[in-house]
Amino acid sequence: MRECVLVDGVRSANARAHKEKGWFRNVRPEIVMMKVYDELFKRNPKVKPEDIEAVFCGTANQTGMQNDIARIAWLAGGYPEEVATNGIQQQCCSGMAATEHAAHAIMCGDGDIYIASGVEDMQKVPMMFGMDIGPKILERYSMEEIPMGATAEKVADLWKVDRKDMETMAYWSNKKAAEARDAGKFKDEIVPIEGEKEDGTKFMVESDQWIRDDVSMEQMATMKSPFKEGGVVTAAVSSPLTAGACALLLMSREKADELGLDYHIKFIGGAMAGCDPTVMGVGPIYAAQKLLKRYGLTAKDIGVWELNEAFGSQSLAVIRELGIAQNAPFNNVNVWGGALALGHPLGESGARIIVTLNSIMKTDFKDAKYGVAMLCGGFGNANASLWEKVD
Ligand SMILES: CC(C)(COP(=O)(O)OP(=O)(O)OC[C@H]1O[C@@H](n2cnc3c(N)ncnc32)[C@H](O)[C@@H]1OP(=O)(O)O)[C@@H](O)C(=O)NCCC(=O)NCCS
Repeated sequence: MRECVLVDGVRSANARAHKEKGWFRNVRPEIVMMKVYDELFKRNPKVKPEDIEAVFCGTANQTGMQNDIARIAWLAGGYPEEVATNGIQQQCCSGMAATEHAAHAIMCGDGDIYIASGVEDMQKVPMMFGMDIGPKILERYSMEEIPMGATAEKVADLWKVDRKDMETMAYWSNKKAAEARDAGKFKDEIVPIEGEKEDGTKFMVESDQWIRDDVSMEQMATMKSPFKEGGVVTAAVSSPLTAGACALLLMSREKADELGLDYHIKFIGGAMAGCDPTVMGVGPIYAAQKLLKRYGLTAKDIGVWELNEAFGSQSLAVIRELGIAQNAPFNNVNVWGGALALGHPLGESGARIIVTLNSIMKTDFKDAKYGVAMLCGGFGNANASLWEKVD
């Protein structure tokens, strides 16, 4: 089996998916994706678009403007028709599944250079848009229990996650993200793309829109759950509706060496796990447990974790059940903040957390041997991937 290394990763900033306030409200998702590809090639002039074996692109809701967005973004960018594209759908895990497909293809020897990516604009293609849930599945699950917010409330209840603990997590997520942004830590991974401010002024969007500099425990305590009467999952402890795109340049180690390219981590393997869709957020527990067992590791062997914060309740359930920590701030989990602050453009996040994992392993956690990125997905899918520092 060959080795697959991560040569580079680029993303857009994450904007609010809001028709009046979102910074990308008038930029189509394929254009955001295309600009991320442009930046990847600009930063890696030794790699030509025609050298790419295939592009895998994850998107959760592949309908409307996002129907076959994998092909459309590539061709819209003027890239070669001869390069194949493949849209990947595993709900929020789509970007990670795209990365794993590319890595597996490299390891098997199908090709040497792949792009893995993810894109979603939750304003232009809202969650469940155009979805037609058939009667057979509704015999098995109640429609009230399937929506994401309902699953987060159920996890809080069954895993006994306290509202205050979730708010503490959201507080730290915002603090860490603001600190990382102010220290310029995201500069290497974000490509500025033109968008517009709330008042319509055009500007280059180069930082994540949602990060709350004024996050306050007192303010969060006053908020109500939009998901359940008397519930505990408020907007502050939910990932916001977001728009963004991300792309990774993956290569066989031989090819990267031949081209004289630098890399810091290599893909070891991934593990997917399914679970009850009505508590979909706890899926990463099972995916990560499978992954660690397969490679003979324990949670203590993992130097850095990136866990997509879909909701505070599921994130805390996962972090606790894996025995990583009890409460925020966590030392080695979401070191530069998580989706509660940075946003979560569904199909993009699985790719984004791998890019951020790489950035963290290159800078703040240089000595970490292993890093794991993991996330849950709607309807009960989860994915975790293991990366190892390359000496
Ligand atoms: C929670 C949710 C319903 C809120 O959506 P919404 O009502 O459309 O509103 P917004 O996201 O615009 O946020 C609601 C308000 O709460 C405010 N808010 C959020 N966090 C806050 C905080 N920590 N402190 C104070 N205010 C906060 C926002 O600022 C916003 O007000 P504004 O527009 O005046 O700025 C939505 O974000 C959601 O569904 N999130 C989950 C997405 C999801 O399921 N993803 C998949 C996961 S698997």
